Amino acid sequence: MDDRHDPAPPLRGRKAPKGRNKTEPSFPANDSATSEILNSVAAHGKPPPAHHTNSSIAIPEAGILTVQNMPSRLANQWVLITGASSGFGAAAALAVAREGAKLLLGARRTDRLEQVAAEARKAGSPAALYHALDVSKTPSVEEFSKWVREQTDKVDVLLNNAGGALGLDTVATAKDEDWEGMMQSNVLGVLRMTRAILPLMTSNPGSSIINIGSIAGRTAYEGGAAYCAAKAGELQITRALRLELNGTGIRVATIDPGLAETEFSVVRFKGDTARAKKVYEGVNALTAEDVAETILWVASRPSHVCIDEMVIKPTDQAAIHKVFRRTAK
Ligand SMILES: NC(=O)c1ccc[n+]([C@@H]2O[C@H](COP(=O)([O-])OP(=O)(O)OC[C@H]3O[C@@H](n4cnc5c(N)ncnc54)[C@H](OP(=O)(O)O)[C@@H]3O)[C@@H](O)[C@H]2O)c1
Repeated sequence: MDDRHDPAPPLRGRKAPKGRNKTEPSFPANDSATSEILNSVAAHGKPPPAHHTNSSIAIPEAGILTVQNMPSRLANQWVLITGASSGFGAAAALAVAREGAKLLLGARRTDRLEQVAAEARKAGSPAALYHALDVSKTPSVEEFSKWVREQTDKVDVLLNNAGGALGLDTVATAKDEDWEGMMQSNVLGVLRMTRAILPLMTSNPGSSIINIGSIAGRTAYEGGAAYCAAKAGELQITRALRLELNGTGIRVATIDPGLAETEFSVVRFKGDTARAKKVYEGVNALTAEDVAETILWVASRPSHVCIDEMVIKPTDQAAIHKVFRRTAK
């Protein structure tokens, strides 16, 4: 019989293998979320109530079985996000909140964090908590991690996202304070946060550390010496950490975006919004939501899958220097 005529609900797609009793539990599955949904469908004819998503499950003898209303792998997991007050961090908070994740949010602007936490609760997060955090200062990171340990004894996802660029000056003209600021947040901030939170992850195999790098860490550009160096540093920290944590079950990933329209350029140009706007002129840049979707996907792979490194750029950006711009006629 043609697959397209197979009975659809509650399992869409291909039939279970011949000879398998519909009410028989324990379908082959390689993670607890998959087992939970398949066993519930087998026993009750419907998935369990929870935060749901659409997923595909590979069943060796039968090919791909697409089950709608899968419980999300992130439901009730603790996701810690640095730099959650704007851009990728805020969008990622909302994306994982929709999957039912619990949130620990950090940044310096707590008024913004309060708004993000409120939106995250509305979006479905059972607990969206926030605390002031400056990743460029060890005492602040220690204070933040003490607060984290008061909320939970395990972290499932650490998203090291806080950071950014300061200035676009050549090496000949740049300022110490900008260099130091970029190294503090993008490099030392990732190291400090990871050191502080690792004890809550080593006893939790399947947890993930996701660092936000940049294509600037892979290709240099004029005026970007310190930022490119900082993000190249983040890339090598990610690689070293993956080697150090091998055997613990902790996954370590870097997601390296290209041009994305957030507050990034406003911060880089110290509040000069007209100059910041010019960066994205005529380009279909990435949005914070595009990057958040990628973060969500990386964070929700089965525990034996590690997405080591991912580069995400706008279609208009073929390379760091080659950006297609639509000019006004
Ligand atoms: N947008 C892009 O084109 C692009 C491309 C590649 C990579 N990235 C990277 O993506 C990450 C997020 O940037 P974004 O584009 O979302 O920019 P954004 O809108 O400016 O967000 C940056 C976030 O980092 C936080 N942050 C900065 N310094 C911090 C510190 N010392 N301590 C704690 N939080 C700090 C900011 O919060 P507070 O100011 O409230 O502390 C803010 O929440 C950064 O690491 C950036 O380098 C951006």
